[in-house]
Amino acid sequence: MATLRNIKSLRRLHVKSYGCQMNVYDSNRMTDLLTRDSYVETDTPEDADLIILNTCHIREKAAEKIYSELGRIRRLKREATRAGRNLMVAVAGCVAQAEGEEIVRRAPVVDMVVGPQNYHRLPALLAEAERGAKVVDTEFPVENKFNHLAPATAAAIRSRGATAFVTVQEGCDKFCTFCVVPYTRGAEASRPVAAIVAEVEHLVEAGVREITLIGQNVNAYHGEAADRCPATLGDLLRRVAKVPGVLRLRYTTSHPRDMDDGLIAAHRDLPALMPQLHLPVQSGSDRVLAAMNRRHTRAEYLNVIARLRAARPDMAFTSDFIVGFPGETEEDFRDTLRIVEEVGFAGAFSFKYSPRPGTPAAERQNQVAEEVKAERLARLQHRIDAHQRAFNQNCAGRNLEVLLEKPGRLPGQMVGRSPYLQAVQVMAPSTLTGEIVTVRITEVGSNSLFGVLRSAEAPKPALAATGD
Ligand code: 5AD
Ligand code: SF4
Repeated sequence: MATLRNIKSLRRLHVKSYGCQMNVYDSNRMTDLLTRDSYVETDTPEDADLIILNTCHIREKAAEKIYSELGRIRRLKREATRAGRNLMVAVAGCVAQAEGEEIVRRAPVVDMVVGPQNYHRLPALLAEAERGAKVVDTEFPVENKFNHLAPATAAAIRSRGATAFVTVQEGCDKFCTFCVVPYTRGAEASRPVAAIVAEVEHLVEAGVREITLIGQNVNAYHGEAADRCPATLGDLLRRVAKVPGVLRLRYTTSHPRDMDDGLIAAHRDLPALMPQLHLPVQSGSDRVLAAMNRRHTRAEYLNVIARLRAARPDMAFTSDFIVGFPGETEEDFRDTLRIVEEVGFAGAFSFKYSPRPGTPAAERQNQVAEEVKAERLARLQHRIDAHQRAFNQNCAGRNLEVLLEKPGRLPGQMVGRSPYLQAVQVMAPSTLTGEIVTVRITEVGSNSLFGVLRSAEAPKPALAATGD
């Protein structure tokens, strides 16, 4: 741990994260590991001694973005060298895994390329790179990185706020034909229940109130429980909900095929499990779903939604969609528009299909023209936006429980999240950070809800005196 006395001699670390929550979690773990003894964090790449780009490869232009960022970093490196500093540059994440050696060939400014399974080796790799070697480590190691990564310090946890991600599984065995994840993140692997519970306890002790269990295919979780039997995600959620101080639980990202009865029952039984689920469907057409190798039909997807709604009637669903998958016809696309109407999503991400090198769909001859993709995306987004607005509008006048996270847009304002993951802006004292308060929603904007404070779960004396 860095002390005030040695802080001046520490080098500065800047980590830039792209992509999904898994990368945010990994970036934090890399920071925790390196700030244990040799580094302090800096928000600005200009004064950094080590820059790590934690990259994403899921969609188009991700790799190109990294190369142009590396162009900017080359200038920083030149300036640092002129000032007598040695700036080290590392590329981590899925682009590192997919491109490997190619990165140091194309961008000689890079000293180190490290894949997502190798972060625990960072200190050793850095030492090697500092001796002047170009280091590329994208092997899938036999040892488990989670056993070697450092826990965050209480100060680091507090600086990241009242909500935290905890990785419970990594990798994916589903092999959807458009997706690079099974290649960049490797085969599916789950962490044991005890290790996850210990991490959650550590986070809660430092003030975290909401835990999101994350994994590329989180509901395929099958970690070892105390009795050495495999636990499902439903079992894990039940166990984590028992940790004192965990007020809210979420998990992401799920595959429709892996929504088993136990997991659905957890939504009925666990008050801490929030009534919001991100459940990517990708397409509403059975023909396209089959070509995507999604292993479920539209009817099966709708059945999962119905069972979840029966278990927890106020469930809000969000989703991911891909338009213009190879061979998608106008008729197929209309099936996608229909499923948007049938489910009434509270929000969704939608993307034009982008061929990922090495995936089966990229090789198909029946690619859809760029203009057709753009036109379908606009039509889909128009309907998704309408549903999102309707869902938010429906909250006007209601009292929602909001976990206050950080200062809001205006002075005196705080922003937090509703159970449905909507951002809610409310006038509230910053002493309520990390508390769940009741907010009456008075106004609905395009990105946030606005409301007034009704009560705090654990009212502070000052607040109790000013309650309305
Ligand atoms: N093209 C477009 N979108 C993709 N996604 C994954 N791979 C691709 C691709 N090749 C989207 C999916 C997934 C989300 C994380 O990214 O919708 O659910
Ligand atoms: Fe990719 Fe998700 Fe399909 Fe796995 S389930 S291959 S991560 S889209």
